[in-house]
Amino acid sequence: MRSIVVRDMIPSDIQEVLAVETSSFTSPWTENAVRSEPGSFGSIARVAVCDGNIAGFLFARRVFEEAELLQVAVSPLFRRRGLARLLMEDLIDLLKAAPAKKVFLEVRISNTAAVSLYRRFGFEETGIRRDYYRSPVEDAVLMELQMK
Ligand SMILES: CC(C)(COP(=O)(O)OP(=O)(O)OC[C@H]1O[C@@H](n2cnc3c(N)ncnc32)[C@H](O)[C@@H]1OP(=O)(O)O)[C@@H](O)C(=O)NCCC(=O)NCCS
Repeated sequence: MRSIVVRDMIPSDIQEVLAVETSSFTSPWTENAVRSEPGSFGSIARVAVCDGNIAGFLFARRVFEEAELLQVAVSPLFRRRGLARLLMEDLIDLLKAAPAKKVFLEVRISNTAAVSLYRRFGFEETGIRRDYYRSPVEDAVLMELQMK
């Protein structure tokens, strides 16, 4: 990877973001959902661009002092190179500037990569939501980060 930039998602990114989405989730968001996310209230929609290609993205929403992390995904071709870390650092910088006090999220209980990523950033587990996910049915772990 020669150059890496994290920036706002723009309409022309949609197809590449969708490619990362469908290669990352068993129940991916639809094209319409991805397309409309950057315009939704409080949206933070960021992409990681490596050598001109979209390698990952992050969707979050902030409402006043609270934010929810909706999705973070990195293309399988670019994983384990610190891109999710960069996207998370970028999100936390944006939220600190907002300023937000708390970030929360849900994650599949079997998603050890994501849980480890979130713990690395100081997220703590606050509960379990039984059978929250479909395809396949699975519990969600609820996690929260109090911003300093
Ligand atoms: C989770 C995901 C975003 C991580 O992306 P990534 O760019 O490979 O992650 P990074 O290289 O930045 O790694 C950062 C940290 O995440 C954790 N991590 C990432 N991949 C991991 C794996 N396969 N196993 C265990 N921990 C992992 C580690 O804590 C890692 O820190 P370390 O490198 O110091 O060990 C990526 O695996 C992915 O897109 N998965 C599918 C989509 C998804 O599940 N998203 C999260 C739920 S919305």
